[in-house]
Amino acid sequence: MDSVNGVTGVTGVTGAEGTDHADRAERTGGTGRVDGAVSGNVDKGGGMSGASPYRLVGARPEPGFEVRVDGRAVPVVPGQTVGAALHAAGIRTWRTTRFGDRRRGLFCGIGVCFDCLVTVNGVENLRACLTEARPGDEVTTS
Ligand code: FES
Repeated sequence: MDSVNGVTGVTGVTGAEGTDHADRAERTGGTGRVDGAVSGNVDKGGGMSGASPYRLVGARPEPGFEVRVDGRAVPVVPGQTVGAALHAAGIRTWRTTRFGDRRRGLFCGIGVCFDCLVTVNGVENLRACLTEARPGDEVTTS
C-alpha cells in the first residue's frame, strides 16, 4: 500500500514515474513534503489516488534556502521555480524588450511566452517559470 506518515497515495502515483515529482518523493523517501494524517479522505481505487488534492492536506514544505539574484539574496521554498521565488520576493520584472525597453517578468507562467528569461549559473535564456531554484543558484537578469 502507498502510505507515508498516514497519507495514502503519496508514493506510486500512477503516471508520475520518471517525473520531477516522483524523483522528489524518491529523494525524500516520501517524507519530505507531506506529513499528516488524512488517509480515509483519499480515493483508493482506480489508480487516481495520487491525483487527489487531499494528499496535500497537512503538507509542510521542507526548510527553505536562498538563491542570489543579481547579488541579492532571495528566499526560496523548496520546489519553487526561480520565477515564483522572484515574484514572492516582490520582484515583478527583471528584463526589458529589445524594442521599446518594455519591462518583462512572469506573463504566462507556463513556459509559452519566453518573457521571463534569466541566466542561472551561467546558463543563459532559461525560462524562470520552468526552472526550479536550487540551493546556491546564481541568477542574473538583464
Ligand atoms: S512566464 Fe511565459 S515563459 Fe515564463
